[in-house]
Amino acid sequence: MSNDKKIHRVPGGLNELQMKGRKVVKLGGRQIALFLNDMGTVYACANRCPHEGFPLVEGSLDQECILTCNWHNWKFDLDSGETLVGGDTLRGYPVEVDGYDIVLDLSDPPQQVLIENALKNLRASFDRHEYDRMAREIARLQQAGGDPLEALRRAVWWTYDHMEFGMTHAYAAAPDWLNLRKHHSMGDAGLELVGLVEPVAHMAWDTQREPVYPYTNNFLAFSPEALTEALEAGDEATAVALVRDGLRQGLGFAEFEELLTRSALAHYQDFGHSLIYIRKVGQLLEWLGNDVLEPLLLSLIRSFIYASREDLIPEFRNYQPALEEWDGQGAQTITMEELTGLTVNQALKRTCQSSAHPQAAFHALLGALAWNMAHFDLDVQNHTNRSVSHNRSWLSFTHGLTFANAVRRQCTKFPDLWPQGLLQLSCFLGRQSRYVDQQLDLTEWSVENPESFFLEEFSCLFDHGQSEYIVACHFVKTLTSVNEEFRAFPDAPWVPILLTAMNRFLNSPIKGKHVLRIARQSLSMASMGD
Ligand code: FES
Repeated sequence: MSNDKKIHRVPGGLNELQMKGRKVVKLGGRQIALFLNDMGTVYACANRCPHEGFPLVEGSLDQECILTCNWHNWKFDLDSGETLVGGDTLRGYPVEVDGYDIVLDLSDPPQQVLIENALKNLRASFDRHEYDRMAREIARLQQAGGDPLEALRRAVWWTYDHMEFGMTHAYAAAPDWLNLRKHHSMGDAGLELVGLVEPVAHMAWDTQREPVYPYTNNFLAFSPEALTEALEAGDEATAVALVRDGLRQGLGFAEFEELLTRSALAHYQDFGHSLIYIRKVGQLLEWLGNDVLEPLLLSLIRSFIYASREDLIPEFRNYQPALEEWDGQGAQTITMEELTGLTVNQALKRTCQSSAHPQAAFHALLGALAWNMAHFDLDVQNHTNRSVSHNRSWLSFTHGLTFANAVRRQCTKFPDLWPQGLLQLSCFLGRQSRYVDQQLDLTEWSVENPESFFLEEFSCLFDHGQSEYIVACHFVKTLTSVNEEFRAFPDAPWVPILLTAMNRFLNSPIKGKHVLRIARQSLSMASMGD
């Protein structure tokens, strides 16, 4: 990007304009549209409409110098440079008339101005979740020489206090999109852009039309014990005030990670999201740096405050007793085959029996979770006439794998937490067992060559075609977790079934909306007088 003056003369240009009213000139590799209005003023602007690039010289210019692009009716005020209808800004150029020559100044604004303009325009498109325009503005940011990751940093700041219940998968999937961008785009600029636009747009979607849900600005003297207590009590104001003080003292994410991991695993909660999110926030900070430590940490804290407590519902009431019974002496070997088909209580009991060998239990549980996912009964996904308690989707299974990945990572760091991690994996496993089809023939889903499989599936994510962010982000999150487990244990006995499960998930139909199911379940609820 050069700030050199770029002055171009169009000899006799005014003559032509006086005859035709408009013309296109090609100068310095650009197409410039020139217009002459009834008052004798000459205007110059980019000929390519900033919307989809159609030629503005074909547009309609009215008495007020409003130029309408007739392809989609966007309107540009050539005097003020404003876009009156539409989105993106039209580039205009200063003009002087010298006799019958037209002199154009095509100099670029300073780089920093272009970067800030792109970010300002990204914000405008972000607020309205205009996907295409967000892509264009991020492309312009890159074109201006800006750091493309700045789009994500800004998006985090724009959204963290618009998430009523704390962080969502929009943040959690962001590091996986960035990894995909880095490792699988093969230098293709289009693929690289996907890896940025998807997480930014997901953040826009999750917060569209949401008001600000403010965090307290108070400070309270930080201590790990006080923060743990506030999280346990579900006291957001105290927790945030403590975190703010910790940040003021210069604490980084590493100083919060252990206590957050302990809090996340203190209960079987939020179907594993709390633990998954810790890891994802850590990874996103590695990408974006500490500029976004505060918003990410606060939104993570809020997600803990609002986490659901599954260990308090009857289905999982034996989780806590099992944890109390865990003595690290259970010496029975355990395999994935033994665990498949077990209920929650059976899985908890069986896992306790191998408490002396947490790593072995982890492998067995991961294998059994993969088996369940591979055998997910799609009739359950598609049902229209069962009760709400039978609503299950692919995501009920993918979370088992992403949670397992998070358990292995975090419990390897803090090994005394293996009992919680493994027993919570047992809860995941037992919960799924009613929704599998044991007779399913998986032949068509088996994966012969893991390397080719990962290569192809990661590549496919760049053009996933899913309209719902929640589906696309689970594709990338789950494939990333599965890839990590495969890389860590390429010869594990669960590898074939894990890849089979993943292959079936990525390539099976996903029912996007349960119109009839919701109607029937609503009628049922209403008939009960609720
Ligand atoms: S291309 Fe000009 S409005 Fe769409």
